[in-house]
Amino acid sequence: MIAPIVLLAASAALVSAQGPPPAATPAGCTAKSFVIPSWVVANFSSAGGKTSFTTFNRASNVSSTVECTGGSCTASGSLKALIELSENSAVVSLNETWNCNDRPGGERFMFWAVGNNSLRLAQADGKITAKNPQVLVKGSLIAPVAITPIYFEGPTGHGTPGCSAGSEKPKWTVSAVAYSDATGDGVNSVAQRSLSLLLINQATGYDASCTAFADADAKSDVLNLNCAGLEFQSPTIGRYSTSTAATYNVATRQLTVTQTWYCDDTDPGRPMSISATGSAPLTLTCTSRSLPGNNSQTNCELPTDYTLSGTVSSTTVLAPFSIEDPTPGTDGCTISSIFSPKWTFSNFVIEGKASGAGTVAVPTTDAIVGFDVILDTQNRRYQYPMPITQGKKTESGWYECEVGTDGGNGLPLWPYECKFKYDSAKKELVLDANWECRDLDVRHPILFAGVATTTVNAEIACEKFQDLAICGTEDPSYTWSAPISSVTWTAGEPAPEEGGLSGGLQGR
Ligand SMILES: *[C@@H]1O[C@H](CO)[C@@H](O)[C@H](O)[C@H]1NC(C)=O
Ligand SMILES: *[C@@H]1O[C@H](CO)[C@@H](O)[C@H](O)[C@H]1NC(C)=O
Ligand SMILES: *[C@@H]1O[C@H](CO)[C@@H](O)[C@H](O)[C@H]1NC(C)=O
Ligand SMILES: *[C@@H]1O[C@H](CO)[C@@H](O)[C@H](O)[C@H]1NC(C)=O
Ligand SMILES: *[C@@H]1O[C@H](CO)[C@@H](O)[C@H](O)[C@H]1NC(C)=O
Repeated sequence: MIAPIVLLAASAALVSAQGPPPAATPAGCTAKSFVIPSWVVANFSSAGGKTSFTTFNRASNVSSTVECTGGSCTASGSLKALIELSENSAVVSLNETWNCNDRPGGERFMFWAVGNNSLRLAQADGKITAKNPQVLVKGSLIAPVAITPIYFEGPTGHGTPGCSAGSEKPKWTVSAVAYSDATGDGVNSVAQRSLSLLLINQATGYDASCTAFADADAKSDVLNLNCAGLEFQSPTIGRYSTSTAATYNVATRQLTVTQTWYCDDTDPGRPMSISATGSAPLTLTCTSRSLPGNNSQTNCELPTDYTLSGTVSSTTVLAPFSIEDPTPGTDGCTISSIFSPKWTFSNFVIEGKASGAGTVAVPTTDAIVGFDVILDTQNRRYQYPMPITQGKKTESGWYECEVGTDGGNGLPLWPYECKFKYDSAKKELVLDANWECRDLDVRHPILFAGVATTTVNAEIACEKFQDLAICGTEDPSYTWSAPISSVTWTAGEPAPEEGGLSGGLQGR
């Protein structure tokens, strides 16, 4: 069941240009408006029934000054504000429309968002101020689509109490060290060195697993370790993630760790990145055994966990509240579907009765067609093209799509329903598809529909199998894109509140 709430053609949501040409809006305005519609509230002060504060719209970069008497406020521009004051807190509600024209083509696109948040207050000398200098008010979009964008978790441990304090004198717990060094003649044994260990950053609790392998040809005494933590392939981390580099010198047993991590525990409006290096020799206990052919293997371990101390090389203050933001500048499913939507095709196949003897030709009558398809978007995460095969014949040359199974994959980038027709003389494929995007708000799907017409210009090779001609794209890596026209979108049925969130985030 579909609830048809916002039924708009993309062009109908454009604001018609009136009056003088509008000033250019900041780069990224449109994408930020979809992904992080929100305001930073600052400069809060209240005395004698009068309250004032400033707002900064993070998508449009528009600042406003708000003055309130009691609960009703006046603000500059199109901002409307309300405030509810109580003894220790104030709830600020904001409601604003704005335009962005930063997309290619320069069209103005209108956004409307509302949001509220509570500020903790402090009193001194009859004057009331906010405990935090800046507070984020996350918005829900009302137009052009009704969604409440989700925010990311941010890098591991960024909000852990003590993160900032503990980062001044960085410490890592080194454990589970396993070092192995084998000599080899290539016959009885292979010369190989390997090291694995675990590193825990004591400020964030971030846990990295590091490994290195070097073969007999490695001349250097230094092993470069590959370190990865939970964030590896995690869809919920956002734009910043902890990064670790480490080396181990097999001659001196010196372990060197360089890491960058993030803290915003003392003030979420002022997130910091911290980079530090620590280096120390490891006191390993080793045993050796001989291997056939005058070879030997040495295995070493760390008898007890070791605390490695580091020194900070740099700290950087990041943009306010940016730690839970997604990676900027990468369009996902929703934005790609609204602005220049395209399908990327690959792996075209066509099968039918082989025509007599001799070279196998591409079948033309009663052929069965299949292809792989995926939405052309900058942020595919871990999605791969989905095979579509020819299903039941419907009216006048159209066939239902049989869409391959997605293994319960959370956020597909292919049609949930479609039909297509293929004209083998013109090599023309027409795909009439419905797809959904939940990348910005997993609970509120946006249902898209549109038609793409494309010419299959791939090199097709045929093979004969019994009396069948089986033909397909010769180069399996060959892909081509086709624009989707007449795109419409509508709000889908909201998902139930409980469950499904983390599952839905897979593949973001
Ligand atoms: C918009 O605001 C952000 C954050 O304050 C700033 O980094 C950026 O330069 C601004 N962009 C423009 C075009 O003013
Ligand atoms: C506080 O207000 C001043 C102008 O009155 C403004 O320049 C400043 O950016 C505001 N502070 C914040 C954090 O927005
Ligand atoms: C936002 O402002 C508009 C225009 O004044 C008003 O119609 C609407 O009810 C407001 N919405 C909310 C949620 O405050
Ligand atoms: C604050 O926002 C929530 C949803 O984000 C809404 O349910 C609630 O009514 C709002 N409160 C006020 C005082 O506007
Ligand atoms: C065994 O290895 C040792 C040390 O590498 C070497 O001195 C010795 O000649 C080797 N013996 C044989 C039989 O290869």
